[in-house]
Amino acid sequence: MKILAIGDIVGRCGREYVYRNLFKIRKKYNIDFVVANGENAAETNGINPEIADRLVERGVDIITMGNHTFSCKNGEIAMEENRHLVRPLNFPPELEGRGYVETNLGFASVAVINLVGRVNMGPADCPFHAVDAALKKIDTDIIIVDMHAEATSERRAMGFFLDGRVQIVFGTHTHVQTADEQILPGGTGYISDLGMTGVKDSVIGTKKEVALEHFIKSGKRVKFTKETEGDVRLSGCIFEIDNKTKKVTGVMRVNIEGEL
Ligand SMILES: [Fe+2]
Ligand SMILES: [Fe+2]
Repeated sequence: MKILAIGDIVGRCGREYVYRNLFKIRKKYNIDFVVANGENAAETNGINPEIADRLVERGVDIITMGNHTFSCKNGEIAMEENRHLVRPLNFPPELEGRGYVETNLGFASVAVINLVGRVNMGPADCPFHAVDAALKKIDTDIIIVDMHAEATSERRAMGFFLDGRVQIVFGTHTHVQTADEQILPGGTGYISDLGMTGVKDSVIGTKKEVALEHFIKSGKRVKFTKETEGDVRLSGCIFEIDNKTKKVTGVMRVNIEGEL
């Protein structure tokens, strides 16, 4: 089977690209299951119930989140109501939503776990202890982990921590795709960052003029706005898994542009 993992979908341009093209991408690459990071899908970051529903309607099986999980109005409602959404497992347990979801595709059962890092990120419980405890409860054929973090070191450490215990560990959050895709020694398919799905000529999704003002006129408060014009690139990774053995046999980065 083939699993497509899509990097952070950013704003209107990112999500509309997914709405228009994901079914065609699924067909072209023979994809069985799609997991996408949606923490920046709304204009304010975060996600609302309408956007979450539409992404699922348009071919995303599971949406993972991150530090921006609750950045959008009605984000809590989305987390509570949409069973396709998963937010960081190592957030406090009393927060809305769930840290992992299990689904059955008929020929395989799949769990998707979302974690958030702690290096240069907001406060959160230890992702290593949290995932360790969750793995004792999860009993699916395939386990996928989105490690949403700033530091590549923390993400790679998580890759090795979970190597041989889950099929896939990918990173999200920094919005720039890394070129370290590999099958780790224990068999886990890994990449430090999937990249993002949004306007290519932007600063990680933010309008470049706004980002420049932020850095050049440091000290001045700048309102961040997402880029809403320009060509979109969908970045991610396709993981191939043997249907019988459930072992990862291939990891391929993808960067898709233009209408399919
Ligand atoms: Fe993000
Ligand atoms: Fe993030």
